[in-house]
Amino acid sequence: MASTMEKIVSLCKRRGFIFQSSEIYGGLKASYDYGPLGVELKKNIKETWWSDMVHCRNDIVGLDCSIVMHPDVWKASGHLAGFSDPLVDCKNCKERFRADQAPRTEAGTEVEFREGGKSSGSKLKGVVDKRGYVCPVCGCPDLSAERQFNLMFRTSIGPVDPLQEIADAAGELADLDMKGRMKKLHEIVARSAVYLRPETAQGMFVNFKNILDSSRVKPPFGIAQVGKSYRNEITTSNLTFRTCEFEQMEMEYFVKPGEDEQWYDYWRNTRLSWYVKLGLSQDKLRLRDHKQSELAHYAKACADIEYYFPFENQDGEGEWGELEGIANRTDYDLKKHSGFTGKDLSYFDPETKERYIPYVIEPAAGADRAALAFLCDAFDEEIVPTAKGGEEVRTVLRFHPKIAPVKVAVFPLVKRDGMPEKSQAIMDDLLSTGINCFYDHGGAIGRRYRRQDEAGTPYCLTVDSQTIEDDTVTIRDRDTMQQERIPMNGVVEIMKKRIGN
Ligand code: GAP
Repeated sequence: MASTMEKIVSLCKRRGFIFQSSEIYGGLKASYDYGPLGVELKKNIKETWWSDMVHCRNDIVGLDCSIVMHPDVWKASGHLAGFSDPLVDCKNCKERFRADQAPRTEAGTEVEFREGGKSSGSKLKGVVDKRGYVCPVCGCPDLSAERQFNLMFRTSIGPVDPLQEIADAAGELADLDMKGRMKKLHEIVARSAVYLRPETAQGMFVNFKNILDSSRVKPPFGIAQVGKSYRNEITTSNLTFRTCEFEQMEMEYFVKPGEDEQWYDYWRNTRLSWYVKLGLSQDKLRLRDHKQSELAHYAKACADIEYYFPFENQDGEGEWGELEGIANRTDYDLKKHSGFTGKDLSYFDPETKERYIPYVIEPAAGADRAALAFLCDAFDEEIVPTAKGGEEVRTVLRFHPKIAPVKVAVFPLVKRDGMPEKSQAIMDDLLSTGINCFYDHGGAIGRRYRRQDEAGTPYCLTVDSQTIEDDTVTIRDRDTMQQERIPMNGVVEIMKKRIGN
């Protein structure tokens, strides 16, 4: 029987939420495209985030930065030197994996594995070394040394081709030993190297002074940004959970040192409630504080908002996965950028005559992970009676109306007797208000309801013979499947009220 995750993946493709990228070319590892319903879902999540973080408050302003920034930004932030994962090769099956995610096995344990990692390979034995892990694919303990792999995507800018420069330096390179050759190659590449940003956050730090000077803000205040980030992830898995290209919704909140801990608590709680407000099951959400050993080099404290995804682990259970991190980044980033550029990134408080470098509290969320969590949480199957007296499985996405891709579907019961015309009039009213609606006249009415259940559409309006007589229509609720009659001329107002527009 298909697992819940397999059913969700299949529904995503069938209904047009998520497709594999470049599918007709065989796909690209961990790259996905959002179809007509998926793009609406993700857009609704991003717009709700923006509205709640920027429009509904007067202490946060927005920003939209370049994806490619000055390369020194990444030197100052520590990403060039330190944003890497420990990479290991299995000498048996040749799998390349992250050492920190490999299955832990106590050093000195004798383990069995198959030659070449193939089920037909002969059984071999080996002893786990002091690193205490084995290959995640074949279980072999015979592994290469760990080497650091930087996660930033590098490209080059300007009319310089680093390959041509390397070719031109071929003679000089040939005379060098391996260490010298690598150093020279790095020098050549670095002349035109730029990076795709691995987080949106640095854009807020390097624009801190611009915003301070132009926007009449004073701490505590925040800068918010939604945009793409890129990481050359070694292990990718579970649909859009970990991909190389993804969208972040980040906010840097600048506060007076000493007030940072109270704001850290405030943002932990505020951000957790945001997911609950939008309908994520409370019992599948948790706040997990990072242990001291887990903290990033810039963080004084950090907590992850995690969701219990239906990814099956080895025991067939779900897995907690991070949706958002809330970090107390202290004054680390502003100090670093100030040090590298020589620019003063302090704030002078004209009332208290104090000058200080603000501390930063950062709620950093992923739009793709949020969309995946909302999809998983909304997915439901229930047994319902059929018209013929039997039973069938109803698959339904129980999205909160605010994030549902389509808010209302309009159906003429039959394609005649004036019903299509009345339906079109309702569609025109809804379209003129910007409520995302969908018209469907194909197939039996029951089948049309089921299609909208799978799309997560909260309401369906049906025009029938009574509509022709008294200008009323039925409105069907996705979750209860109850129907009631409402006046046709009240549809827009009723819909606005129910979907919270
Ligand atoms: N500025 C801090 C920062 O970037 P992060 O925990 O690395 O922190 C924040 O990323 C959020 O971005 C994560 O909680 C997750 O939702 C999302 N994210 C990070 N890497 C991702 C990836 N490879 N694929 C999808 N989403 C990712």
